[in-house]
Amino acid sequence: MTTTLDSYCVIGNPVAHSRSPWIHARFAELTGQPVHYDRALVPLDGFADFVRDFAAQGGKGCNITVPFKLQAAELATSASDRVRLAGAANTLVFGEDGIHADNTDGLGIVADITRNAGVQITERDVLLLGAGGAAAGALGSLIEQKPRRIAVVNRTHAKAQALVAQHAEMAALYKVELTAIERSGLEADLTQNFDIIINATASSLAGAEVPAPASVLHARSLAYDMMYGPAAQPFLDWASSHGALARDGLGMLVEQAAESFALWRGVRPPSAQVLAELRALLQSEAAH
Ligand code: ATR
Repeated sequence: MTTTLDSYCVIGNPVAHSRSPWIHARFAELTGQPVHYDRALVPLDGFADFVRDFAAQGGKGCNITVPFKLQAAELATSASDRVRLAGAANTLVFGEDGIHADNTDGLGIVADITRNAGVQITERDVLLLGAGGAAAGALGSLIEQKPRRIAVVNRTHAKAQALVAQHAEMAALYKVELTAIERSGLEADLTQNFDIIINATASSLAGAEVPAPASVLHARSLAYDMMYGPAAQPFLDWASSHGALARDGLGMLVEQAAESFALWRGVRPPSAQVLAELRALLQSEAAH
């Protein structure tokens, strides 16, 4: 008797760099789940066709990366509250009744900060740098942790205001003080510092300086970059040089994958172990 493995993939453009196949292969091995997981490089105008074909051929679900997260949210026949708030999806689940969209990015960063880094978000002051897709994907899950305050700062202030307005009702429900503040406001008031500073901007990729003054850090702040590898380094160096605890987004990557795996399989993989393995793998690759 032959067993057909349930098939999943990560869809992106580009996607060659994606570590998701490696992460999900480890999850499958460690949980004993019969899963096959591939990369799918899809043309910019071919997302919906690819997803429908993949589902028709028996695919069970997929992860979505740049630049298709908005299209994934639109294509789905049902969506979680997280997707509705973020306007973007990173996980699709194919079921009898259609395509369900979820967004596990926010759950991923919260799990990495609270469980892996052991830093509490509840009742803390959080600064979110950026107001694009990455920031939008995380904000709802950060609010659910009930920090005391979340301030959003973005180069284009109007986008920070729009993101805050979109989440205002939820923040009120969770009794979180949620505001958009201008960078000049941070620079003018050197007493404003934060327990957790999250970089959700693409400023390092653009080779630009860190988009916040060092006065936002205090000695026990956690400075978190959603990226990892060289893209995260300028922000991490900036934070370390000012005495803060610096953490890259590798754990967020593994934890969002673990949340997707749990949605598909109903089983929670040992994400901390896989994070340690992946970090060791990247270090050995960097050394060669
Ligand atoms: P992503 O999906 O990665 O969030 P995005 O939606 O294009 O990508 O958002 C990029 C974010 O990085 C935005 O907050 C952007 O600021 P603007 O809204 O002003 O464009 C921010 N960003 C990009 N380049 C930047 C730079 N050089 N300095 C500061 N912020 C930058």
